[in-house]
Amino acid sequence: MSKSPNSLRIVSIIGTGAYLPENTVTNRDLEKIVDTSDEWIYSRTGMRERRIARDDQATSDLAAEAAQVALADAGIGSEEIDLLIVATLSPDMFFPSTACFVQEKIGAKNACCYDLGAACSGSLYALETAKNQIACGSVNTALVIGAEKMSTFIDWKDRNTCVLFGDGAGAMVLRATGAERGVMNGVFGSDGSLARLLWTPGGGSRNPMTHDMLDRNEQYLKMEGRDVYKHAVTQMTQSVRDALAANHLSADDIKCFIPHQANARIVNAIGSRLHVEDRMFLNVEKYANTSAAALPIAIDEAVRSGRIVKGDLMLLVAFGGGFTWGADIVEWTK
Ligand code: UT7
Repeated sequence: MSKSPNSLRIVSIIGTGAYLPENTVTNRDLEKIVDTSDEWIYSRTGMRERRIARDDQATSDLAAEAAQVALADAGIGSEEIDLLIVATLSPDMFFPSTACFVQEKIGAKNACCYDLGAACSGSLYALETAKNQIACGSVNTALVIGAEKMSTFIDWKDRNTCVLFGDGAGAMVLRATGAERGVMNGVFGSDGSLARLLWTPGGGSRNPMTHDMLDRNEQYLKMEGRDVYKHAVTQMTQSVRDALAANHLSADDIKCFIPHQANARIVNAIGSRLHVEDRMFLNVEKYANTSAAALPIAIDEAVRSGRIVKGDLMLLVAFGGGFTWGADIVEWTK
């Protein structure tokens, strides 16, 4: 995806919402499942606990909960949505899209619905996609959701990965407004040559769902953590610089930097390289890495806590499997 064109219509986020399942799993709880410790997890990641969805909840259930909160915040009815995108790597099923299940649950009967797959960068890609569809006039009101039930797709016997992820959902309502800036120019990129560093190798057409595949545990997420870490820091730092340049802004203009929440050390390293440590948003301690849900959950928290108020600029930056990455600057106009 190349740099977005300047919007024909200015698009704003007019409502946000989040949903986190009630069940909290602490690092101490994980000590009883795998050979790990609270000390290791906290010192390496900044995570203390994560939320895990109930067995009877699928990703669309989490997404629908977040969507209802965002719609109430925006003060609109679900029938006003004409575009509904769900960013997820843990869909209810291969098809139909999780977005179609959400449509049915919330009664968004006038929406065109699809899922977007860009792993942890998915919500940012979806925000950009929805912005451009509204900007060019093909739709008026969009609901963008990042939702994940990661707990289904991680190997609870693999300490390298199972301690890192959590379940949750975040949602944003977008609409053209009379604002001067709204969702500004985004920068996006991908590198498929590095796909193998972070992926779920089994279950698709390359490596179908057979007994042999299941015996090899290839239906679960695999990650070369150290390599991913280095690429994440380098690429997210560069994406921030590129987004600032694309919008003719400096880091001083940004009230709050909201990065994908994969690891507190990654967030702090980016903050330190850009000399903006005190303006980096961090909530990974409470929810761990919720993949595509992390960014909209963080935006919702930043706004509801008053860290972002009308007129402030926030810079969103993400990195994930693919590899995929991107950054967007948003003026808060509510
Ligand atoms: O959301 C998409 C993007 N994802 C990310 O950005 C994640 C990026 N990666 C990371 O956040 C970090 O690399 C990790 C948190 C995954 C790992 O931290 P690290 O400092 O890079 O640790 P490491 O991989 O170098 O492992 C150090 C040691 C290893 O033991 P040996 O080989 O040195 O004896 C691991 O086996 O820590 C061991 N280890 C654990 N020990 C206790 C790995 N996981 C655990 C664990 N508990 N849960």
